[in-house]
Amino acid sequence: MLTADQISKFNDDGYIVLPNFKSADELAELKTRALEIAAGDNSEVQKAIFTTDREKRNLANAANKYFIESATTVKCFFEEKAFDDEGELIQPLEQSINKIGHAMHDLDPVFKAFSSGEKLHELANDLGMIEPQVWQSMYIFKQPRIGGEVGWHQDGSFFYTEPMSVITFWFAVDDATLANGCLWVEPSGHKGPLRERYTLTGEFPKMNEIDPTPWPDTDTAIPLEVKAGTLVCFKGTLPHYSAANTSDKARHATTLHVTDGHADYVKENWIQRGADFPVRGFTS
Ligand code: FE2
Repeated sequence: MLTADQISKFNDDGYIVLPNFKSADELAELKTRALEIAAGDNSEVQKAIFTTDREKRNLANAANKYFIESATTVKCFFEEKAFDDEGELIQPLEQSINKIGHAMHDLDPVFKAFSSGEKLHELANDLGMIEPQVWQSMYIFKQPRIGGEVGWHQDGSFFYTEPMSVITFWFAVDDATLANGCLWVEPSGHKGPLRERYTLTGEFPKMNEIDPTPWPDTDTAIPLEVKAGTLVCFKGTLPHYSAANTSDKARHATTLHVTDGHADYVKENWIQRGADFPVRGFTS
């Protein structure tokens, strides 16, 4: 599927941009389904966080529990700016959701169809994966005006394998622009160290610094303004971020996090799968 030049550029830059990977019909079907899930959300946990300090502290645990439970289910998460001072939603429910996660690719038929198939398998092989394993799906709304920024990070922090193997598959469902919070990357930044690891060894998860190398200066980052249907793939150690959405238009995107079954996926990673719900590939 990819040329030798594309593969060597991916290895050098740490990312690759593939326009027109998904059709308008595929995107429309996924977006409709995501909005249905968001509109039907009835969780109270995230909403309750924004009441009083005391409750916030106590419910922070509940929120973390809710997050952990989403590893093998389908749950909605709210934008931080979705609520007024009384804790009531300012906008309709489906315009207040930050994202849906994290097992739609296995549990929802529409997401499953979008997230599987020979084309993705072949691409993963070209990117160097022998046995792709899809651990996580997210649907990110980046809502107009309230869609928050996501600061510098590396996805390898969340999907640690030895050796490092995770590749993020980031699909633009809407056009991604500077105004609506497109992805920014540090080209070749994947050659630097992994800075953090997100682990779950007790009841609650923890982010641990493992290397003090500072995050890149924003002026070395480049924006990936891409059209709907574009797939961006990037390596687990590539630093990236996305700005807030200050525009009047949503910036929907959906992602898959994929590791190579030939690498060792460690037991401290927050998403684990057992024999009852095994991790699967794009074609298995
Ligand atoms: Fe990320």
